Amino acid sequence: MTSPDRTDGLAARGFASDNQASVHPDVLAALAAVNDGHQPAYGADTVTARLRDVMRRHFGEHAEVFPVFNGTGANVVSLQAMSERWSAVVCPESAHINTDECGAAEKVAGLKLIPVPTPDGRLTPELLDRYATGFGNVQRAQPSAVSITQSTELGTVYTPQEIAAVAAAAHERGMLVHMDGARIANAAAALDLPMRAFTTDAGVDVLSFGGTKNGLLLGEAIVVLNPDAVRGMAFLRKTGMQLASKMRYLSAQLIALLDGDLWLRNARHANAMARRLAGAAGGMPGVEIVRPVEANTVFAVLPADVAERLRKRFAFYTWDERTGEVRWVCSFDLTEDDVDAFAAALAEELSG
Ligand SMILES: Cc1ncc(COP(=O)(O)O)c(C=O)c1O
Repeated sequence: MTSPDRTDGLAARGFASDNQASVHPDVLAALAAVNDGHQPAYGADTVTARLRDVMRRHFGEHAEVFPVFNGTGANVVSLQAMSERWSAVVCPESAHINTDECGAAEKVAGLKLIPVPTPDGRLTPELLDRYATGFGNVQRAQPSAVSITQSTELGTVYTPQEIAAVAAAAHERGMLVHMDGARIANAAAALDLPMRAFTTDAGVDVLSFGGTKNGLLLGEAIVVLNPDAVRGMAFLRKTGMQLASKMRYLSAQLIALLDGDLWLRNARHANAMARRLAGAAGGMPGVEIVRPVEANTVFAVLPADVAERLRKRFAFYTWDERTGEVRWVCSFDLTEDDVDAFAAALAEELSG
């Protein structure tokens, strides 16, 4: 049985988060490749110029890319650039901007979030209709954008048609559409579609493109798909403390991911590992897979004592303390052996 305690002091690969994964070797190589000579700072370098072309290949000729350090920054700066001082943003209750960004959208961007309960992390036109209200009422923060996450925090994936329907409903109300794409590559892999099909072509205005979970050292990007949707993005990135001086190192990583098919290979593999895990665990008495496994995340309910013992062997989080639901995230760098070892440990703990 594989033990998570390695002799070199490093923990074994686990299932807590794709943020705990390693950096893909091609990304490290890309960093080394641009580590020569001096380049203009703050995005005026030749590497960032290349990234602009690469992003346009993925997202269309109007796409403007703004590399940033992290996902919270991408989300907050994007939403701020899409909003007024009196704006509100409608998002699923489970949205990372609502649950896991320490209120940054409220504090830093000064926005009111309107969290919407959803069964599966997906917003719908009907929910938007119910929660985006008070237009023109001076007593109410004005709903000016919706934020959807693809793939969602609950492991589900919107179809392009579902996104187009939400976008149409938002646009009809004069609202803009933001996508938190921290795991956008996993969604593209799941749908077997180019990212453009469910972003630019579906009416998304601004995308927070996720790189870190899919193999980068650090680095995400704001991708403005509709230039008319934002104001002052370049300035807001600076005031939001997301403007990198040595930007070529962010851009080089994003190019390593996106110029070829590394983004897709990594995401396909992560999704396949999630399916493998769900297949193995789902068949075990005492384990219930409680949400559809559409991308790289598996949610399960199992006896609390089993979860506790298993966690001593492999890292993972409890998602819901109340129900005991746990979350197993599959990263791009997991191997089939890692998944099989985890499943075997689960079976062992269940039996004794
Ligand atoms: C859905 C989602 N959005 C955004 C983020 C970005 O977070 P961070 O600011 O830690 O990069 C995360 C990270 O866990 C996430 O899961």
